[in-house]
Amino acid sequence: MHYILWQHGIFAMYYTSSKVTASEFFRWSFFFTLINQTSNNMKIGIPKEIKNLEFRVGMTPAGVDSLIKNGHQVFVEQNAGLGSGFSDAVYQSVGAKILPTAQEVYQLAEMIVKVKEPLASEYPFIRPGQILFTYFHFAASKELTEAMIKSKAICIAYETVELPDHSLPLLTPMSEVAGRMAIQVGSFYLAKPQGGKGKLLGGVPGVLPANVLILGGGVVGTQAAKMAAGLGANVTILDTNLARLRYLNDTMPPNVNTQFSTHFAIQEHLPSTDLIIGAVLLHGAKAPHLIKREDLKKISPGSVLVDVAVDQGGCIETCRPTTHENPVFFEEDVLHYCVANMPGAVPQTSTAALTQATLPYVQLLANQGWQLACENNSALKNGLTMENGHLLDAKLALEFNL
Ligand SMILES: NC(=O)c1ccc[n+]([C@@H]2O[C@H](COP(=O)([O-])OP(=O)(O)OC[C@H]3O[C@@H](n4cnc5c(N)ncnc54)[C@H](O)[C@@H]3O)[C@@H](O)[C@H]2O)c1
Repeated sequence: MHYILWQHGIFAMYYTSSKVTASEFFRWSFFFTLINQTSNNMKIGIPKEIKNLEFRVGMTPAGVDSLIKNGHQVFVEQNAGLGSGFSDAVYQSVGAKILPTAQEVYQLAEMIVKVKEPLASEYPFIRPGQILFTYFHFAASKELTEAMIKSKAICIAYETVELPDHSLPLLTPMSEVAGRMAIQVGSFYLAKPQGGKGKLLGGVPGVLPANVLILGGGVVGTQAAKMAAGLGANVTILDTNLARLRYLNDTMPPNVNTQFSTHFAIQEHLPSTDLIIGAVLLHGAKAPHLIKREDLKKISPGSVLVDVAVDQGGCIETCRPTTHENPVFFEEDVLHYCVANMPGAVPQTSTAALTQATLPYVQLLANQGWQLACENNSALKNGLTMENGHLLDAKLALEFNL
């Protein structure tokens, strides 16, 4: 600020000595303001994730190194990276300051970079005007939405940062992980000792493979289909996007079929399906319930439902969020796996995958400040969900009547 006043002062003196015109004066003033805004020095905080069995961290030491080399300061909570294989010493070696508590990180930081949404114990640390850059999944929690409105923070949600082609660059890496994991966990729980019907996904020579039904052929659905097909299962992907179905039909192996998603098609598949993956997304809204409680009676006992879309409310009516500690439950003899933070179980893969996607946006926010960064980058602007107590997402406002 002093620097900018100094710049303006010098220039004003030059102007009063009538060497420049008024329009030139204002043009140069604007230029100095822009320079100042694009060379911010920001204090960035990386608190430890406290959601149950969440081992990811908001930034790898490589990401922190790059922020510090750009002139920013980074504060990392003690042991924040341990679960992902990064010691405090590694963060310190690239110039980060280690702080003993989350409260101190929140107190010092102008921007908090996290993985999961803040939990109730963190709400009191958040202050007006502070930037929170993390996954929020507001549609799944009115309590969180109201708490963030009250905090008057600047909330930029990873999951709604959207490129002009409608892809979601910060959801994609975690969707890739969750899609691949969905088949690993699904095949595990299909085994009898885990409560499943006792079926091997790929069958064996002379014995038919299991049937896998995937609801939604986006990133999660595609990665799940690849894994299930690789294990030899008989896979069907349902989607409402015909262009996507055409692409999948062209690129998937022969044991993957595609079908337009309708209520009728889903009902037809239920009796013969062994493993169902819920992978539907309606951007920024609650997932539609494509399988209702009464439909479970059509599914054979011991079948497995993995509702990956649980973080948006789930696309199976009987789905409720579970944790890695207690991941499954039964409804109508059908085993449900509904862990809301699946990638948290493989933090070494997930933290690296997340940071490589978020870092360019963190750099932009830190270098330019949130207003200019959102003005200059439409993807980031799409992620801006709350600003000083104002909810900017119309779908969310409708959903919660806010
Ligand atoms: N549980 C977890 O740990 C975890 C991790 C990552 C992602 N997710 C969630 O998984 C879900 C899917 O994410 P994604 O990245 O694959 O999204 P995506 O946008 O890539 O794919 C969603 C697909 O659903 C399709 N769809 C919409 N309505 C449909 C319908 N009625 N029937 C069938 N398909 C329909 C869309 O056409 C799209 O192809 C999201 O809710 C996401 O938040 C959860």
